[in-house]
Amino acid sequence: MGKRLVLAYSGGLDTSVAVHWLKAELGYEVIAVAVDVGQGDDLGPLPERALATGAIDAFVIDAREEFARDILVPSLAANARYEGRYPLVSALSRPLIVKHLVETARRFGAVAVAHGCTGKGNDQVRFDVATRALAPDLDIVAPARTWGMTREETIGYAEKHRLPITISRERIYSIDENLWGRSIECGILEDPWEAPPADVFTRTVPSATEAFEVVVGFEAGVPVSLDGERLGLVDLIGRIDAAAGSVGFGRLDMVEGRRVGIKSREVYECPGALALIAAHIDLEGMCLERDVAHEKARLEPRFAELAYDGHWYSPLRHAVSAFVSSTQRHVSGEVRLRLTPGGGLEVVGRRSPVGLYDHSLATYDAADTFRHGDAEGFVRLFGLGIETWAARQGMAGGAFGS
Ligand code: ARG
Repeated sequence: MGKRLVLAYSGGLDTSVAVHWLKAELGYEVIAVAVDVGQGDDLGPLPERALATGAIDAFVIDAREEFARDILVPSLAANARYEGRYPLVSALSRPLIVKHLVETARRFGAVAVAHGCTGKGNDQVRFDVATRALAPDLDIVAPARTWGMTREETIGYAEKHRLPITISRERIYSIDENLWGRSIECGILEDPWEAPPADVFTRTVPSATEAFEVVVGFEAGVPVSLDGERLGLVDLIGRIDAAAGSVGFGRLDMVEGRRVGIKSREVYECPGALALIAAHIDLEGMCLERDVAHEKARLEPRFAELAYDGHWYSPLRHAVSAFVSSTQRHVSGEVRLRLTPGGGLEVVGRRSPVGLYDHSLATYDAADTFRHGDAEGFVRLFGLGIETWAARQGMAGGAFGS
């Protein structure tokens, strides 16, 4: 038996050339694995194509349910958005793909894993760091990082070796897609001043002509229903993605700071992810005790950075997730979302059987049970330190001008 390697295979240009190159240049027996994380394409034909390209074995792993349960649920619980906006679409699939590469490597006695990432992006960081966390003994081979071919040369290599690729020289965008959304880079988008051409969008193409509402139900921070109908996670995410996308909601256009130090212009379509995050944040407003809510909001950007930076399998990400998960027990209830053509999404109502909103405390009408007499003394003590400071130093010291 020769030395074996498991390649994360997408059927695209780079991973197709990689199958051939790893065999021809490095002498590996290549096992090609395509992990289905909800790309939306039919991955069925991929194994045959990988075998035709020179792989000794090839298969598809359907990881959609696992992706939703083990990665998207904890990310939604953390309302995770990198730089306050990007819900981490591509960053989230990598740890799961690596988990399956490693499992496959163990099953076939492989000595290495490989991926098709270039040296300029974040995805290589995520693949490599996750592999080193899960399987430090395996080698990591990243042919596209070392072969030194331009895109044109890579196409030339595929043509020379008659590799079955469907890529044309005109295909300009680099696209990565899964259940949580779609990332689009390259081509004209490399000019941050140029508006994204209409042809980059597929999940946010407006089709709805009238406003409509969707009710999202949550149990312990996990979305469980739409309009009262209980749904599995994969279905639910797909349905809300389509609904929110139909009014054109969910587009992002941003210049983002990559882990490798490069600023890049990114366009994303994440209608479902951003709708669920909006609903979840709103329900937390009703269900989380105030101090818990504020502390959680401070940790959320950290969670997003860790996921973005490829530190999914790290002690800090686990610790932050443990905190976040301990806050979700009572995040249960329903949120009304109103979607309007033109890309509008608003939360217009929420209710929860375990919410902390107490009408008899909040109301200004006759149902009021709040003890008004308690307020004056509380507020006096709350401001006592400032009152003392103002009398001795603040005013006398001219803190607010003369
Ligand atoms: N910039 C995004 C990220 O780092 C998107 C990466 C998309 N990957 C791709 N191969 N097109 O998460």
